[in-house]
Amino acid sequence: MQGLFTSSATSRLLLVLLGALAAPNPATAANGAQVYQITCAVCHTAGVAGAPKLGDRKAWAPLIEEGQEILTAHGYVGVRGMPAKGGKPDLSIEDFAAAVVHLVNASGGKWGQPDAKGFAAIRAEIVKREKELAGARPK
Ligand code: HEC
Repeated sequence: MQGLFTSSATSRLLLVLLGALAAPNPATAANGAQVYQITCAVCHTAGVAGAPKLGDRKAWAPLIEEGQEILTAHGYVGVRGMPAKGGKPDLSIEDFAAAVVHLVNASGGKWGQPDAKGFAAIRAEIVKREKELAGARPK
């Protein structure tokens, strides 16, 4: 058993492999926490402009009820004081969704990162919402 680790080349290879396994996937829970800290915390930690606070179960319960696809899509497009993409125009849907999962799971929900089907539904809902908003815009 010990012989396995005596060659430094082998140990180096093992370290590289372990590093690859531990490398963050761009759309994971850990990533959600990170995106949240960088982009969303400025409003959602203190409740700026009426933002539902992280951990406020009462505020999040009716939002969680809307369902993951609709809530993620509406947040991504923006709603009242909630800026589109959290105010970061280059934020991907995957990163935004991961941050929503982080917010929801810290506030009484139990969501997982959407799968390919979930993202397809979120994208469809975003298109629908953008059309609705364009139609509702006063002339
Ligand atoms: C500039 C402040 C601000 C930032 C930054 C911000 N939010 Fe918000 N967010 C708000 C406010 C205000 C609301 C409440 C909107 C309302 O319903 O009037 C809100 C609401 C939401 C909602 C509920 C949407 C709905 O349909 O009611 C979600 C989900 C959300 N935010 C997610 C996020 C995520 C994820 C980020 C970071 C990527 C983020 N927000 C960044 C201010 C912000």
